Amino acid sequence: MKRGGTRPAVGGPVPRPAVRRMRPYAPPLEGRRRGLRLDFNENTAGPPRAALRALAALDGDDLAMYPEYGAARAAVARAFGVSPRELLLTNGTDDAIHLVVDTFAGPGDEVLIVEPSYAMYRFYAERAGARVRAVRAAPGSGGGGGGFPLERVLAALRRARPPRVALLASPNNPTGAVMPAAALRAVLEAAPRTAVLVDEAYFEFCGQTALGAIRRHHNLIVARTFSKARGLAGLRLGCLFANARLAAGMARAHSPYSVGAAALAAGLAALGDEAATRRYAAEVVRARGALEAALDGLGILRFPSGGNFVLVDVGARAAALVRGLARRGILVRDRRRDFGRPGFVRITVGTEAQTRRLIRALAALWDGRAR
Ligand SMILES: Cc1ncc(COP(=O)(O)O)c(C=O)c1O
Repeated sequence: MKRGGTRPAVGGPVPRPAVRRMRPYAPPLEGRRRGLRLDFNENTAGPPRAALRALAALDGDDLAMYPEYGAARAAVARAFGVSPRELLLTNGTDDAIHLVVDTFAGPGDEVLIVEPSYAMYRFYAERAGARVRAVRAAPGSGGGGGGFPLERVLAALRRARPPRVALLASPNNPTGAVMPAAALRAVLEAAPRTAVLVDEAYFEFCGQTALGAIRRHHNLIVARTFSKARGLAGLRLGCLFANARLAAGMARAHSPYSVGAAALAAGLAALGDEAATRRYAAEVVRARGALEAALDGLGILRFPSGGNFVLVDVGARAAALVRGLARRGILVRDRRRDFGRPGFVRITVGTEAQTRRLIRALAALWDGRAR
């Protein structure tokens, strides 16, 4: 077996070198249905009812036909306060990241990421054959848990040949760090020819957005998703926003079929009931505060978060804690891979009732009353 790849069958097709070099990434998606799922930063209460009703109302024609996007794009654009020319509908943020990378970077081009961050940035950059320049946001430095490493990012952007693409998450996953608006402005101005994607998958839990700046900064692209606060991760729907010229450039490289009819119908219905999404997000923010207070009370090191999750560092006790919670039906995510050492665990924040259950289990495990 060659390093990082599979040996092809003799005489059979061989994946491109960039694909052979990719690090395998297999998130633990299976067997989660019956647990309290605090491991993937999903909505733990389900989508707005209107979305379920819209799905139930789909008829045979809706499914037999390729979807029509015009009216849906106009409605989504209205909901987000942009022109339809500034919007692309995508098959989740996943498709959006893929599209941004593929539009602007090819083999040998540089893609800048901050690590630890969302694993799919590296995935799509490596798949495109790009060179990944990863700036480390070390835990405990620059704003614990990975505050935004602005100076190092600016240094990477100001080189003679700047990266073609920068992929940034705010709030960042798994650290929870929110990128200050002034830092983003500095990034955008440092490299006007670098396509800067700001992935705002967790926007609803922090309220800070760069969306209003897409007309001012012609290298800014903002991604939003219906997977988190709106509870539609299973359907795969997202949006990309950018000034009309940049959006048109990306549209050239985007499959005209990438979003399904069910995702469109449910997504539009969810947008029609934003009050439900706001209520859910507000409850999660309250629950996050309760979890943070409980962690502080237990003396567990945790990092400030603008998302629907909290990263903790429990040192050598991480594996036992994750196992103990799993025995109680509570799934959380061991993030040691992100930091190169055990200790880091990311806990999704759900409803207040779910968070009370989590805190009880955590407290019992932590003070040794339970295993
Ligand atoms: C920063 C970030 N972006 C995007 C996603 C996934 O979004 P989607 O389901 O829209 O592909 C995640 C999921 O964990 C994430 O953490």
